Amino acid sequence: MSELRYDGRVAIVTGAGHGLGRRHALELAARGAKVVVNDLGGDRTGAGASAGPAQEVVEEIKKNGGEAVANPDNVATEDGARAIVRTALEAFGKLDILINNAGILRDKSFKNMTPDLFDTVIAVHLRGSFLVSNAAWPHLRDNGYGRIVNTSSPAGIYGNFGQANYATAKMGLIGFTKTLAHEGAKYDIKANAIAPVAATRMTEDLLPADFLGKLGVEKVTPLVAYLVHESNEETGQVYTVGGGRIAKVFIGEGPGHGWQDDFTPEDVRDNWEAINAADPLAFYKNPGEQMASLTRQLSS
Ligand code: NAI
Repeated sequence: MSELRYDGRVAIVTGAGHGLGRRHALELAARGAKVVVNDLGGDRTGAGASAGPAQEVVEEIKKNGGEAVANPDNVATEDGARAIVRTALEAFGKLDILINNAGILRDKSFKNMTPDLFDTVIAVHLRGSFLVSNAAWPHLRDNGYGRIVNTSSPAGIYGNFGQANYATAKMGLIGFTKTLAHEGAKYDIKANAIAPVAATRMTEDLLPADFLGKLGVEKVTPLVAYLVHESNEETGQVYTVGGGRIAKVFIGEGPGHGWQDDFTPEDVRDNWEAINAADPLAFYKNPGEQMASLTRQLSS
């Protein structure tokens, strides 16, 4: 089988100064893509800023014979997001691939979760992905081509103690991704999300050391690279990835229980088992399909 190459493609990877983003940027550049390495260069909580990390990754790419430019802007501001996209257009003349990866952590149990902690995390992960995608979108549409990967998390899909801010942002990214997939379809823009687990500064003190040893970032990047390749036809999907395993996440709806006439809270109680039944599950591609199943039931 032929190697997956990205010659002639221009990619933006946000938060590519460390961890997963750095690995994605190195891989795409090694396979011929021209890469904008964006990173604000702060610490794990998002405090501080430095152009150093993005610049170091660019130097590494160049040393390996690849092409890249550094961008130190903040994904969480409109000006920053626009500047990231502008960097791609000015340096390389177009844009094909966007990997929204930048992220921070501000964990607190919900009792101690403040509006500031909530807003800051939403601003980087969710609004930041929106802002950069929003700035990129007209160019991808004009291009008639685009590949977007958004970085969600198992914490978003399943919820996680101490991460009401982060989980909200990460689940929001799934609805966002699925909507971009619908709206991008006729322009050959594919949007997918990953929910990774990997050993980075974000997880170094959260997971046991022996487990971390099996969770190298290089075990996440192959999925991302495939999803942003022109041969990928999948869109609107979510994949968990880490430690050498990749799995599709399904959002399924059970068969449910229906009433033709008025029903009471007691009817709900008495049919709780049927309402919660998980077999068979339906996997709808859009709200229209879900509505169609309701229409069928109402007319039966
Ligand atoms: P990391 O901390 O090594 O990398 C995140 C990068 O984003 C950093 O280089 C940071 O400077 C940059 N960044 C933060 N705020 C930024 C902003 N406003 N603008 C531009 N750059 C910014 O962490 P890691 O683990 O590589 O995380 C990458 C993504 O993967 C994040 O979205 C994270 O939430 C997600 N993720 C990671 C998991 C893991 O197990 N490592 C698990 C689930 C999701």
